[in-house]
Amino acid sequence: MRASAFKVTGGPEVLRLVDLPDPEPGPGEILIRVAYAGVNYGEIQHRLGDFGEPDGETVTGLEASGRVAALGEDVTGVSVGDPVTAYLPDGGGYAEYAVAPATFTFPLAGASAFASAGGFEGRAGDSGRREGGFVPGASAVPLPDGPVVPLAGGVEGRAGDSGRREGGFVLGDSAFPLAGGVGGRAGDSGGRQGGLVPGASAVPLPDGPAVPLAGGFEGRAGDSGRPQGGFAPGDSVVPLAGGVEGRAGDPDRPQGGFAPAASAFPLAGGEDGRAGDSDRRQGGFALSPGGPGVAPGGIGRLPDGIDRRSAGFASSSGGPGPVPEGIDGLSDGRDRRPAGLDLRSAGGAALVLTTAYGVLVGAARIAPGDTVLVHAAAGGVGGVAAQLARALGASEVYGTVSTPEKAEYARRSFGYDEVFVREGFPEAVLAATSGRGVDIVLDPVGGPTRLASFEALAPFGRVAVYGEAARHPDLQLRVLPIWKNNRTLTGYNIGDLARRAPATVRAHALAALALAASGAVRIDVTEEYALADAAEAHRLLGEGRNRGKVVLAVGDPA
Ligand SMILES: NC(=O)c1ccc[n+]([C@@H]2O[C@H](COP(=O)([O-])OP(=O)(O)OC[C@H]3O[C@@H](n4cnc5c(N)ncnc54)[C@H](OP(=O)(O)O)[C@@H]3O)[C@@H](O)[C@H]2O)c1
Repeated sequence: MRASAFKVTGGPEVLRLVDLPDPEPGPGEILIRVAYAGVNYGEIQHRLGDFGEPDGETVTGLEASGRVAALGEDVTGVSVGDPVTAYLPDGGGYAEYAVAPATFTFPLAGASAFASAGGFEGRAGDSGRREGGFVPGASAVPLPDGPVVPLAGGVEGRAGDSGRREGGFVLGDSAFPLAGGVGGRAGDSGGRQGGLVPGASAVPLPDGPAVPLAGGFEGRAGDSGRPQGGFAPGDSVVPLAGGVEGRAGDPDRPQGGFAPAASAFPLAGGEDGRAGDSDRRQGGFALSPGGPGVAPGGIGRLPDGIDRRSAGFASSSGGPGPVPEGIDGLSDGRDRRPAGLDLRSAGGAALVLTTAYGVLVGAARIAPGDTVLVHAAAGGVGGVAAQLARALGASEVYGTVSTPEKAEYARRSFGYDEVFVREGFPEAVLAATSGRGVDIVLDPVGGPTRLASFEALAPFGRVAVYGEAARHPDLQLRVLPIWKNNRTLTGYNIGDLARRAPATVRAHALAALALAASGAVRIDVTEEYALADAAEAHRLLGEGRNRGKVVLAVGDPA
């Protein structure tokens, strides 16, 4: 096969077109005939030797799309010829054939079940929307009938018994997986999810004797119309975290928490709820059918007055959602609401979407209403991170870039509220947020940008670190300012996660790919290079001249 490979580390010129033997898939692996490969900053790092010295001809390429060419032992659920997109943790995408772990391979259409292997298992269901992967044309990301489905961030859901019993989430039904340790069990009635029901105004609690809530809050089931031990949003109660104990009482507002004017805030972190048996019984939570919203971390309803949460979500008709505000369309003029991912976009999807989702949900613990600042805002990960943040409920999304031209492109293409030139950005962010700062900074740049990011944080704000594009030496950070200023530093690395928690990576990928397939998040492919010109693509990216997503056209998509 033809491949763009390097056998010594160095500049873009070390990438050469060579002939290599076709790889063979081992157990749990899938051989993909590559159509498109994404070009990523991580591949520049690979080429420069950041991941170690090459052992002979080395093919980089961390994501690709194409068609299944062969299946390794134990792989089920996809067939030869199926279109797929894949995250390739060990590289290999810059070649006519690439081997991908089945766990990180996602059918684009026409597959009838999960590609399953390696501990994470999906089974084909029996009805229309049971694909284990994601099918862009369809509106669902069904999950298996098997007993336990690991979801994002340790969520565990169990299969139910009727129409929509997925343990995970169903996009068309507007339910999304929870992150952060939420567990739901099948219960008995209408809106009893273990998490919460954003479409409804209540955060139902189980009928069981005690419900630990966030930070030690404990509620007990009561006896009447509003038996929640915690609170009923319709009753304007916001339970407290940190040792508050509430018991169901009698009239009016017997909660042990307190009752502000706002309607309700579900709790995050450690809820234990039991799902009901009808309508919306996901182990996580459900939104009103077709309605907007995503609630990572167990938080699912916005306070009154925050109105940006629907951007990017499914319309009430269940079709593709509204284009996030300010988005003018893709650079190549394609339809603004693709019913799924075409192979070209999918070639640059699996790594960037999974990373952006993982940084936001896993590392930064995004919650609806959060304000977010994205560095390298016009790039591959940055462009989708902005849209995902909005889809996950961010109220305002800001960005920084190196030039005014990129700022204009990012603003136009990805729905930012504002994009600043990086120099002096903390002042610009503070001015835009009336001095408060932002809740989350996504930082793949490093160096002085990383340090300055702390100055742009709101109380309890998180700087999520996931790259070193500036190639600045590592920082020596002081801890006292973290304490004294209520700051958080958090990190994300997909390679480490793929080794230690592959099911989490897979769940993040499925959630993010489903949003892309729905049209709520789009990959803006701005540049396409031939495989033989991979070095040119690296020059573009390495010099920071890229915008949106750059891909290599490797082989015939048909
Ligand atoms: N941790 C993980 O698991 C993970 C996974 C994937 C990607 N990443 C990281 O995410 C970041 C974005 O990756 P990507 O592939 O989507 O790349 P990208 O953002 O499309 O391109 C890299 C961008 O970095 C910015 N940059 C800042 N300083 C730079 C410098 N000195 N030289 C070159 N570029 C510089 C440039 O944007 P401006 O013009 O705005 O400065 C450039 O366009 C990278 O840092 C990458 O390592 C991390």
